[in-house]
Amino acid sequence: MCSIIGYKGQFIEAAPLLVESLKKMEYRGYDSVGIATMNNGKILISKGVGKVAEVDKILEFAKLPGQIGIGHTRWATHGGVSDKNAHPHFSCNSDIAVVHNGIIENYQELKEKLSKEGHIFKSQTDSEVIPHLLEKYCKEFNNDYKKSIIYTCKILKGSFAFVAIFKNGLICGARFDEPLIIGIANSALFLSSDVLGFLKHTDKAIFLDNGDIVTIDNNKYSIFDINNKKVIRPITQVAWELGSTEKGKYAHHTLKEIHEQPSILFNSINKNNDFQQFCKFIKNASNVYITGSGTSYHSGLLAKNLLAKFAKIKSEVIMSSEFQYMSDTLETNSAIIAISQSGETADVIHAVKKAKEHGSKILSIINISTSSLARISDSVLVLNCGPEIGVAATKSFIGQLMIIYNVVNLLSGNQLSLNKINQKKLVTDIEKTLELDEKIKTIVSMLDSEIKDIYILGRSLHYSIALEGSLKIKELAYIHAEGIAAGELKHGPLALIDAKSLVIVINPVDETYKDVISSTHEIKSRGAKIIGISNKNHELYDNYLQIPESIDHLYPIVEVIPLQIMAYYLSLKMQVDPDYPRNLAKSVTVK
Ligand code: M6R
Repeated sequence: MCSIIGYKGQFIEAAPLLVESLKKMEYRGYDSVGIATMNNGKILISKGVGKVAEVDKILEFAKLPGQIGIGHTRWATHGGVSDKNAHPHFSCNSDIAVVHNGIIENYQELKEKLSKEGHIFKSQTDSEVIPHLLEKYCKEFNNDYKKSIIYTCKILKGSFAFVAIFKNGLICGARFDEPLIIGIANSALFLSSDVLGFLKHTDKAIFLDNGDIVTIDNNKYSIFDINNKKVIRPITQVAWELGSTEKGKYAHHTLKEIHEQPSILFNSINKNNDFQQFCKFIKNASNVYITGSGTSYHSGLLAKNLLAKFAKIKSEVIMSSEFQYMSDTLETNSAIIAISQSGETADVIHAVKKAKEHGSKILSIINISTSSLARISDSVLVLNCGPEIGVAATKSFIGQLMIIYNVVNLLSGNQLSLNKINQKKLVTDIEKTLELDEKIKTIVSMLDSEIKDIYILGRSLHYSIALEGSLKIKELAYIHAEGIAAGELKHGPLALIDAKSLVIVINPVDETYKDVISSTHEIKSRGAKIIGISNKNHELYDNYLQIPESIDHLYPIVEVIPLQIMAYYLSLKMQVDPDYPRNLAKSVTVK
């Protein structure tokens, strides 16, 4: 939920470089930002509330001298959004500054104890206990930094990664259930939450494991564990992540990522060799469970439908945040399909760990091949859709769907007809659907600016798309939106519909068509405004968004596109930054 970065170089000033790194990782949290550098044995801190560029404009981070530094972007958990709560945090003597990502569960108890010992706290954060603990142990152990770091890590409870800078120029980092990666450049070393923090400078990385502690001194790194035992981790060459993180000709990352979808569509199928192994695990499992959060959960819902319909495989989809409450009933030899763009979502990781305890096999569908989820999985399929910077999942959803379609196709003896001709047609269909951009922009511009509720209806496979569309509208435009299984309308939601309602019906001509038309009649007679997404127009629609005619089960892949575009234009109408919706972060690494 926060991004942390540490840099120790020989020739380049740290501050401008840290600002660049934080901009790249801002998707992880963007309510405040701060930097600390070390110069002539003194640590200097500058921090404030707002996005990196805004705060940088005011504070001019580049003025901080020194070739060693740390930086942070925050997504508040403990303590409000304020200058004081922004990181880095100092120890009392200002000899140590710390940036932290995660949650320190026992911070209250530690804070009380440290306060009694005379430590003065300046923020309301859980994070601030770290510099004070480091200071305490440095004093106790006569500046034995390594011992102090180990003791600090031993006493902290929770999931955390932190980077600390000491006034003698030492940088240290620790990874306990939150990501931390070493970047190795020719004359500099980085410690970062994400490879994006240093990719401009190097593609050589060490992905630290849980429990790893690292010190960087004299431009050498050393990794050890909590028992002070040396640890050796391989150096990895980071590959696809080198994909562009720039907006290009687009006004926002979100719009760019929506428009990238035709070009990345088959990356997930063509760039994975492990489909057979993945399918074998499913075939051999006694039970199949699917888990994920947010958009990835919606992919899971579609996967369940497709597995049942075409491969005759029964599965259960459980939101990752709910998984823990049923994990005791997991049968041995179950397979858990864990879906996650980032591979770092705490709820997903927690669910998977629970499942592992019960002897389940973990099959993951992820975008970040080096993520924590990838490393604890038995089989991994990678989306290969490039970095997704916009907080709203768009191209990663399509990437997930393609993997799911291919898996079901293999398990069902090619019943999904994903042959080369249909693949090509699908790309063209998405391209054509993207051409609805202008039309959707116009429709959105004509909507009442006071619009409070949007309902999206769909049946069967389209229901998961209705849920996904409503999530996009909620998070991008801050408008209440609800995905409704069309058949459920008469069991309650119809009571909400009146002349002020906007209802979007997902209604391509397939087995669900007639029933959805019946529901549309019911809505129309209550005076609601209706937008139809279909390959066939109908007099009931006030606005019609035409999608190309397709094979029935492929419609979901196409019909989500107009909903993504609509959410994007709604966000602009509501004057919201679509790339960085309030209160959210791209990877939710806290439970
Ligand atoms: O990285 P993950 O796929 O695990 O993330 C899961 C959700 O946090 C994510 O899909 C979230 O709901 C998106 N912001 C939705 O657009």
